[in-house]
Amino acid sequence: MEGGGPAVRRRSRSASARKRSRDRAQSRGACSPPARKRPSSGAGEEPQPAPASPEYNNDSEEDMFGDYDSFSGNNSLLAQVDNTEQECIQSIDLTSCTKNMEDRATVEPSFGYLQLQNAKSKELIFSAAGNITGFRTEEENHLRITSEQENRTLEPGDCFLDDLPSSQLLYFEEMNKTSVDSRKSSGTKENANDMNSCLDKMLNQSSCHHNAEHTKINNELSLSTMSNLNKRKSLKDHLKNTMTGNAKAQTPQVSRTKQLKEAVLSEEICAAKKTIETSSVDIGPFYGLPSKVKDLFVQFRGIEKLYEWQHTCLTLESLQQRKNLIYSLPTSGGKTLVAEILILQELLCRQKDVLMVLPYVAIVQEKVWALSSFGIELGFLVEEYAGSKGRFPPIKRRMKKSLYIATIEKGHSLVNSLIETGRVGDLGLVVVDELHMLGEGSRGAILEMILAKILYTSKTTQIIGMSATLNNVGDLQQFLQAEYYTNNFRPVELKEYVKIQDSIYEVDNKAENGLTFSRLLNFKYSSNLQKMDPDHLIALVTEVIPNYSCLVFCPTKKNCENVAEMICKYLNKEYKNHRENEKQDLIKDLKNIGKGSLCPVLKRTIPFGIAYHHSGLTSDERKRIEEAYSTGVLCLLTCTSTLAAGVNLPARRVILRAPYVATEFLKKNQYKQMIGRAGRAGIDSAGESILIVQEKDKHLVRDLVNSPLENCYSNLFLEFTKGIQSLLLSLVGLKIARNPEEIYHFMCGTLFGVQQQFLSKEKSLSAITREALGCLIEKGLLKGKITSEKEQKSQSNLEVTQLGQATYKGSIDLAYCDALYRDLKKGLEGLVLESCLHLLYLTTPYDMTYHCRPDWMIYFRQFSQLNLVEQKVAAIVGVPESFITKKASGQAIKKDVDNCVINRLYLSFVLYALLKETNIWNVSEKFNMSRGYVQNLLNSAASFSSCVLHFCEELEEFWVYKALLTELTKRLTYCVKAELVPLMEVAGVLESRAKQLYDSGYKTLAHLANADPETLVKMIEHLSRRQARQIVSSAKMLLREKAEALQEEVEELLKVPTDTYEGLLTTLP
Ligand SMILES: Nc1ncnc2c1ncn2[C@@H]1O[C@H](COP(=O)(O)OP(=O)(O)OP(=O)(O)O)[C@@H](O)[C@H]1O
Ligand SMILES: [Mg+2]
Repeated sequence: MEGGGPAVRRRSRSASARKRSRDRAQSRGACSPPARKRPSSGAGEEPQPAPASPEYNNDSEEDMFGDYDSFSGNNSLLAQVDNTEQECIQSIDLTSCTKNMEDRATVEPSFGYLQLQNAKSKELIFSAAGNITGFRTEEENHLRITSEQENRTLEPGDCFLDDLPSSQLLYFEEMNKTSVDSRKSSGTKENANDMNSCLDKMLNQSSCHHNAEHTKINNELSLSTMSNLNKRKSLKDHLKNTMTGNAKAQTPQVSRTKQLKEAVLSEEICAAKKTIETSSVDIGPFYGLPSKVKDLFVQFRGIEKLYEWQHTCLTLESLQQRKNLIYSLPTSGGKTLVAEILILQELLCRQKDVLMVLPYVAIVQEKVWALSSFGIELGFLVEEYAGSKGRFPPIKRRMKKSLYIATIEKGHSLVNSLIETGRVGDLGLVVVDELHMLGEGSRGAILEMILAKILYTSKTTQIIGMSATLNNVGDLQQFLQAEYYTNNFRPVELKEYVKIQDSIYEVDNKAENGLTFSRLLNFKYSSNLQKMDPDHLIALVTEVIPNYSCLVFCPTKKNCENVAEMICKYLNKEYKNHRENEKQDLIKDLKNIGKGSLCPVLKRTIPFGIAYHHSGLTSDERKRIEEAYSTGVLCLLTCTSTLAAGVNLPARRVILRAPYVATEFLKKNQYKQMIGRAGRAGIDSAGESILIVQEKDKHLVRDLVNSPLENCYSNLFLEFTKGIQSLLLSLVGLKIARNPEEIYHFMCGTLFGVQQQFLSKEKSLSAITREALGCLIEKGLLKGKITSEKEQKSQSNLEVTQLGQATYKGSIDLAYCDALYRDLKKGLEGLVLESCLHLLYLTTPYDMTYHCRPDWMIYFRQFSQLNLVEQKVAAIVGVPESFITKKASGQAIKKDVDNCVINRLYLSFVLYALLKETNIWNVSEKFNMSRGYVQNLLNSAASFSSCVLHFCEELEEFWVYKALLTELTKRLTYCVKAELVPLMEVAGVLESRAKQLYDSGYKTLAHLANADPETLVKMIEHLSRRQARQIVSSAKMLLREKAEALQEEVEELLKVPTDTYEGLLTTLP
């Protein structure tokens, strides 16, 4: 794989800083620096060897040693040198070591490297600048290796400094200041010792210090080849240097030249300081990472070489300076890889935690799978924050860094918890994939909150955003204070076509109306077929299947199923022969997943290699169908638009059955995302999309293909309760901003702040902010006064009320917080605990009640099957039996009953049935709902239950709910037999897989973590090698994460408090 460049560049930057400092140091030693020839350190050159010994330092100085070189022939002197060296080694202790350091520092004071070593076992030590500075003996681990920071920590008053010329003194003072500064500004600069120990640990724990690494280090840094021989040489050179310095020394006189030199010097120090601040610790040749990372990309992803744009992007000056960055490339451009390399740099080189925000739970799980194996190999943790998974605040790890992979909602809660505990600075990097989601409803508003809070509270956290569909990048850049990189690269060419009647046109920007005629569709349809398939779908798909894959996007779920059936009805029977056995296996698997039930549509279509894919499927089914499609067993999927932005399912041909999503005309962004599935790198050699258009929509389609992408606008204002109000509540709650003035200041930094003049012409930002604060006070969520704009200065701080605190901590939509409080309060008066029905009612998400249309007969039947105590629940919550009976018998009802309550109770019946049966299929049949919907209800209830739990935790009066809801959340999260729960905790292991594993003897997490992937492949049906490896890696990661959390807890428990007298004594050095 390509990749030397950036590392070179990075290294050459820090190397040049080091070189500069060394030069300065030496010149200072000599007082008047001779003109020296240095190899250029421009970008792209080969890395310069690090200065293992003074011989590397300066060519011209070597020349000046003509006379002194005769030392080498002087045995008596060498013998003295040897003796001194021996003495040094024998009497080595911290004091003598320090003394040596100081001696050396007079020669190489800035980034000097003192190599003390023992010929016995050696351990690599890295300097804070990331270079190996020598070896450390196991017995003498206490010996300090001089690192730049350590040098910097020397006090100006230290004895050796007394003898220094003034310029050198100034240098030390400056460096000392730098060091103090660097420690003050937490986040940007790490403590050298911490860094060393962290890297040591990292290397010890992970397999990072493998042979490849050693080889690389040896090649790059001749420093690491330090041997006894070198030591002798260096001591000799040390003497040489000192004497040269003496020889060159001039009588100190405070002259203008000297002052000028000092000015130049301090300028150089500033430059060096900046370099140190901005550059990461470079620990390897692959973009600052060990070459092992490169090997892992080859091994796990089959990526041998970076695309040119990926290389250019990774070496951008702005990234080197840790500026925020937005980058945008067409779909399939390879954006993820760049983000992943940046993430690894942050985790390994800068030793900071990283948050990666992805749009959907399924994508989070996929990413956790994919990156766990990197975590195992490289020694960092991968933590899943999706659904009801994730801990708030996250456990503070002392040994390892964490990569949090989160959905937007969970990412928000995570950032809130880090801000609350003062740990937001631990996040070195936040990566947002599909950045255009900023413009998508309430989820966009939450994403905006995450980013605005990070920008406001942690200046040291870098933000990287990527997308294929951005238009108004200027706004986003202004919001994120980011640089922008874009490129049109797409590894596989994508040809766009539009089909109108039987003509196919190619989308062509150069053509007058954006389309040029390409061909007539070649087909022979009977009149019957023409009637059944007026859009010629069969003709279009049979041009590619079964040998190539095809996706057909349909406007609705029902349409997906109809289209799949229609195609199969007229497809030649020979299609059944293609991979017949594997298709039979797939049917068998799906039947197992459905615990004996199989969707009749799938039963008919799968033999032809065709299936539908939409949210009506359970996640288990979807996963199995995706697997079958990825491996070519299925060659065609009919799907809804959700697949476009979801999982990575590529196709040779993408057909858009109509330019609609449900009843709405397609947006350009949606269109681009859908057609972007065609022609994925590494899978297809070509890609094409065909949009089927009716005559009547012709003009709309021309606009669609020729128009630019839609702009991305803030949703904070549109989503009032979920947007601005909820943001302001959390700002006050988290003490990010406490009064209207500070809040206004914060709001100016949001995307809404950037776009406000466009989005809300009538009202100023300040007025909008005030109005939202007023609403919060009115609702009893905030306390305080909002005075007029003119009186801003005298405004006092606002405070959250208890209800406000519970609301933002529980991430409860402000529209429902009152209702939730009332319901819970009412529950306290007579909670029915004979079964979990009443509790389930309290945790049924309010927002799902709107679209619920109860079937009154089913309602009645389900109600009748409850025992008397359970039936009491209905009466308590406000749904009388008479109401249900009358509804079921079609009688008119005079009494007004709250629809929300009726629907909520109905949905809680569904959940209750699920918890009793744990069989989604049976329940969906019972309630005449799609199994996908039932599963979605279950997931939402699990999530909401954990929100209600957090809500109750903040309100003393609801203490009793805590224990109850903890248990209920668990039951809802894993609505399976208890024995499968430990296995389902592993990312991506769903019920059917967990069952297979359990039945094969892998009963616990430990069993799975210690499994051999090869054996798994043999034991578990239809498990690919890749999947087996990923399951084991994910299980290992989870086990490791759990074990470390426990260890941290133990250490925390055993820690001697530092505020006791004894504690103080033990913590003294
Ligand atoms: N340098 C590379 N060489 C070969 N394949 C690569 C390279 N970089 C990425 N890929 C592969 O290209 C495919 C698409 O990459 P990726 O998913 O990152 O695209 P993307 O830009 O994020 O697209 P989208 O906008 O659709 O999400 C993946 O299968 C990935 O493994
Ligand atoms: Mg992507």
